[in-house]
Amino acid sequence: MKVLLIGATGNVGLRLVSALLTHGHNVVAHVRSVQKLESLLPESVYRQLSVIEGSAFDANSIKIAILDNNCDAVVNSAGLAAVTPWGKSDLPRIVAAVVEGARQAGAERKKPLRVWFLGGMGALQFPEANSLLSDHVPILLDHCRNLALLKSLPPNTLDWSMLCPSNMDPESSDFSVPTKSSHAKLTSSAQTPPLWKDSWLKHIPLIGKIIVIVMNITRYGTTLEQNADFIATDLETLDSPYIGTQVGIIDASK
Ligand SMILES: NC(=O)c1ccc[n+]([C@@H]2O[C@H](COP(=O)([O-])OP(=O)(O)OC[C@H]3O[C@@H](n4cnc5c(N)ncnc54)[C@H](OP(=O)(O)O)[C@@H]3O)[C@@H](O)[C@H]2O)c1
Repeated sequence: MKVLLIGATGNVGLRLVSALLTHGHNVVAHVRSVQKLESLLPESVYRQLSVIEGSAFDANSIKIAILDNNCDAVVNSAGLAAVTPWGKSDLPRIVAAVVEGARQAGAERKKPLRVWFLGGMGALQFPEANSLLSDHVPILLDHCRNLALLKSLPPNTLDWSMLCPSNMDPESSDFSVPTKSSHAKLTSSAQTPPLWKDSWLKHIPLIGKIIVIVMNITRYGTTLEQNADFIATDLETLDSPYIGTQVGIIDASK
């Protein structure tokens, strides 16, 4: 598949470059600085990319990049959610531009485009309480707003999915292709965190549900490489089970 990757210079983006190439995709990288991308990747990997310099705020630049390069799919890893309630994040503006650019490209082709977005675990539905975490953890609010935007799109506008990881650690800073990882493939589920552990503690008044969420949450740390591989694997087909939903993941082997 030909994939437009927006935000290829970031933590997730660099691993996505290697994972997408390893899975046989063609990659068109959309970045703010071509020089920065070139400096971060091995020359043998950089040579395999088509690279476009542009702003992720610019829906028109995204639309043109999709149409001119005949891309089948888009992955957006640009932007970072705000950490504090008073923090400023470019992420909602970037997601709105990617949605608009991909929507227009799909409308021109008369076929909705396949698009992966990066979210956070707080955008999932928790068995204990739907939005408990995002009400208390400001870093997750941007992801919830972006999810609300995606869910408000009319049918057949965009074949979107939002990957919702907890914290992601790097395995290495080796971005060579093919990727080497000793970590397991992730286990996933639509909308909810997979393999959630229920507990009688949830019945404790006021704090019970929060305790169960906190007990569970530490189990959901994964690596940047595992998440990149998850998206690259999903894009091997356009027939994904995750179209139109947020996606929870866990490393079940830990
Ligand atoms: N890292 C984690 O543990 C974690 C956990 C859960 C969710 N997430 C989510 O995953 C996503 C990616 O995270 P990350 O750790 O890869 O972030 P990151 O390393 O900070 O990378 C952010 C990327 O966004 C690009 N960018 C920022 N503003 C831009 C703009 N205005 N126009 C174009 N590009 C822009 C940056 O480009 P430059 O290089 O040009 O600055 C960079 O490529 C975020 O949505 C984050 O909230 C991350």
